[in-house]
Parts: sequence; structure tokens; C-alpha cells
Amino acid sequence: MKKLINISLSEIKLNDLTKLKSETLIIGSYETKKINDITNIFDKKSKGVLKKLISREELSGSLGNILYLPNLEGTASEKVYFVGCGKKDKEINEQEFLSFSQKVSDAALQSKAKNVHIFIPSISVKNRSEEWNYKILARTLESNCYKYFFKGKKNQPKNNLTKVTLLKENEKKGLGAINKAMKVGHITGVGMNTSRDLANTPANICTPSYLASSAKKLSKSFPVIKTKVLGEKEMKKIGMDCLLSVGNGSAQESKFIIMEYYGAAKTKKPNIIVGKGITFDTGGISIKPSPAMDEMKYDMTGSASVMGTMRAIAEIKPKSNIIAVIAAAENMPSSTATKPGDVVKTLSGQTVEVLNTDAEGRLVLCDALTYVERFNPASVIDIATLTGACVVALGHEATGLLSNDQKLADNILNSGYASCDRAWQLPLWDCYQDALNSKYADIANIGGRAGTITAACFLSRFTKKYNWAHLDIAGTAYGGKVGKKSSGRPVPLLTEYLLSQK
Ligand code: BES
Ligand code: MN
Ligand code: ZN
Repeated sequence: MKKLINISLSEIKLNDLTKLKSETLIIGSYETKKINDITNIFDKKSKGVLKKLISREELSGSLGNILYLPNLEGTASEKVYFVGCGKKDKEINEQEFLSFSQKVSDAALQSKAKNVHIFIPSISVKNRSEEWNYKILARTLESNCYKYFFKGKKNQPKNNLTKVTLLKENEKKGLGAINKAMKVGHITGVGMNTSRDLANTPANICTPSYLASSAKKLSKSFPVIKTKVLGEKEMKKIGMDCLLSVGNGSAQESKFIIMEYYGAAKTKKPNIIVGKGITFDTGGISIKPSPAMDEMKYDMTGSASVMGTMRAIAEIKPKSNIIAVIAAAENMPSSTATKPGDVVKTLSGQTVEVLNTDAEGRLVLCDALTYVERFNPASVIDIATLTGACVVALGHEATGLLSNDQKLADNILNSGYASCDRAWQLPLWDCYQDALNSKYADIANIGGRAGTITAACFLSRFTKKYNWAHLDIAGTAYGGKVGKKSSGRPVPLLTEYLLSQK
């Protein structure tokens, strides 16, 4: 996915704001009952228009308040939007800043301009830096431009916005750090959009082969990423029978996708991300009920987020090694489908009794998790829409996190906090493991009451050789306040985590 907009940063003297010739100029102003430094500049040039607007309480400066002024006298820009920044020197929280960024981004789009300039005075957000503000604003600007409509070319909504210039008052300290944060935020937005585009694509188009060709396309645009794809024949040859058992009932060929990025010496241990890529989950023979079954097209969001993150990594080019793998299959019922009670062999050699064919995510992931042992990883994180139970436990706000290493878990929790894409940890205690005992195989694929935890217990049987964490994104991938569309999560968390690993 290409960048939808261009974002750059530039310095300006306050007094020059009225002289700037922009299609749309968005100006942040603090809450005040009187004219202040910034409004004064526009007031003077317009011979008192702003004073009047303030006295009529139309321009309040309260956080997120928007006032649109076309043809403001004395200002060279065509359209001017004033956006309230709240009380000067009053700390706001991150949630407030997120919705502020959203309002600014909406105004930029709604103005229908191609070129937009944005000047926001400094806003202090509790426990966050100024760099963070720019990171979030840039990310929101880009991700807000994304629209997915599958209605043919004619009905595509038009996005005029192509260029945003963020303006900052001249300061001695320079813009280096802010510029860097802004770029990371922007690319994270591009990564989110890449992920959303794949996840939103209907399952008759977004098949395992489609995921594979999307990965190949990405590495064609960004040769720093090398992509390899294994088909069913190759997987069979190395013994990934468990992954293959999930696609047995489908006419679509299962695929295993490996994307490698080397930003450091090859001897340096890589950080690995592993995505669940069930392009449609009917439940298989243990078929799901019909209502809302269409949502199971999002069951490949783990793999979409892995791809979106690699899109971001490809451009940021950190000095570390990162490998992404995707286990892609379609879970369908048919005469060739795996049946409840079937026993399959995993790549690790352990056997699995498939008591429920709807617990398929863990069956594709376990072979992927064994496969990545060969890379001698520094850490492995799998990302999966794994259990409905996770939505019950954490809703659509937090991603479920389970790990066999507390340091890794803490790093991920911190990255979730830093990127406002939060995860919450659940226990992975040994006492939950017994639920997976099987009479006919080494392990059963379901068991017990704590669905999210026992699913992670299943995976933990295949991750003993390295530091591993599991992200259950069943609730955060789509739905909730976002509605029935892909959220782009957890691309911000993953990007933040990978960039924090030196
Ligand atoms: N893809 C589903 C989990 C899911 C449910 C994701 C709702 C998003 C929203 C997964 O493959 C599944 O079916 N899990 C079962 C496991 C059960 C059979 C142990 C579930 O959660 O019901
Ligand atoms: Mn399922
Ligand atoms: Zn599933």
C-alpha cells in the first residue's frame, strides 16, 4: 500500500501565519475568553473578526472545538480552521490527544483541499513527550485517509488530500527528533492501512494465494524484504501436517509465507512475528452458526498486521533483523475436511487430537512456531484472532497477551502503552495445561473453561526453545467503536516493539 498523503515538517514565524498561501490552514488555539498570541495575529489582519467570534463564544479554544472560516480577511490561505487546544499549560491525557488528532485529521479531509498546512501550538500530554504528539498526529492523519469500498471503481470516494505540512514555531533546538517521530508515526499509519486493506478484502478474493502474492508484491516494491512461499507440496515434504489439516476441506491451497529483513549482521538473532492467516473460518465440520459468520473473513488479521508491520519496517529500515511468517489456510467443511476426533502429526513430532475443527488457529500456528526455531530467534510473537473468549474478557479495547518470558511480556506491554495500542496480560500458569490432556494423542486442541489461556497453553507446547509471546487480537482486530471494519491493530504495537529492539 502506497502512502495516501505526504507529510512534512517545517518552521514558521508566528507572524507569517497570515501570509502563508495555503488551500487550507488549520490553526490550533488555546482556550481563552480574550484574544491571545495566536488569535491576535489573525484578529489584527482581519480588523477584529476574531475578537467578535470570541465574544460570541463561537471561537472558544476548548479542546477539539472546531471553527471553519472561509475567506478570513487579511489571511492569505483560502480556508481557515481554528481548532481548540484546551487551556494553555493544562495537561491533557492521551485519550484526549487522540481525539484531538482525529478532529484535526477530519478537518483536513473535510476541507477537500489537496494541500493542507497545520499549526498546532505545544500541548502537554500526561507522561508523553512532544515527539509523541507528532508521532500520533502523523499516524492519525495518514490512517484517517483510508477508505475501503468494494463497490467498483465508479463508487470510490474521492480523497483530495495529498499533502500535509506540519508547521512549528522557530525554536533553537531544531526539529530533528520531532521529524523522526513524525516519520515513524506516518509510516505506522501506512502499515495500519496496508493491514486494513488486506483484512477488509472479502474472503473470495483474499485467499491464502492472495496473501502470498501480496507478500511477493511487497518485497518487489521493497527489495530489502526477501519473500519465500511454501505451497502444500513443500509443506507436506517437511512435515507440516497439522497446518495442512486445516486446509484439507478447502479448494484453496494453503500457503506458508516467510519474509526476511536483515538490517544488521546475519549473525544477529532476529525478532520474529508470526501471523494467523485463516482467510475464512467457517469452523469446518464443527461449523459456526450463521449470524455474523461473515466476520470470519477477518480471521487473517494476524497475518495482515504482520504484513502491515513489514511494510513499515521496509521503509524505516531499523538496524536489526526481523522475520515475519504467515500460516495461511481456509477452514471449510467438505468430504475431505478434518473431522472431530482425527489425530494429526505436527512439525514438532507431537500428535494432536482435533476435538473441535473450529479451534484451527492454533493448528496452523503450532507448525509455524516450530518452523521458526531454525532462525534462532531473539523473540517470537504470534498474532492471532484466536478466541472468542478473549473478546469476552477484554472487549475490543485491549489485546490479550500471554508469554513464557516476563521480560518480553513487559516490553510488549510498554510498547502497547507507548503506541496507544494496548495489550493486557493473562496468566500462562502450568495449572491450566492439564485441560489439554488427550486419550488418543499427545495433546488435544481444546479443553477447559479459560478459552484464551488454554489456547495459549496449546501454543506454549511448541515454543519451549525461545522467548515467546502470544497476542490474541480477536477483540481488537475489528469491531467495537471501530465498527465492522478492520482497525489496523496491532500494527502500532508491533512496530513500536520491533523498533525498540536494538
Ligand atoms: N477465529 C475464531 C476466534 C474468533 C471468534 C475471532 C470471534 C474473532 C471473533 C477461532 O478460530 C475460533 O473459532 N475459536 C473458538 C475456539 C473454541 C472452539 C475452543 C472460539 O473461540 O469459540
Ligand atoms: Mn475457528
Ligand atoms: Zn479462527
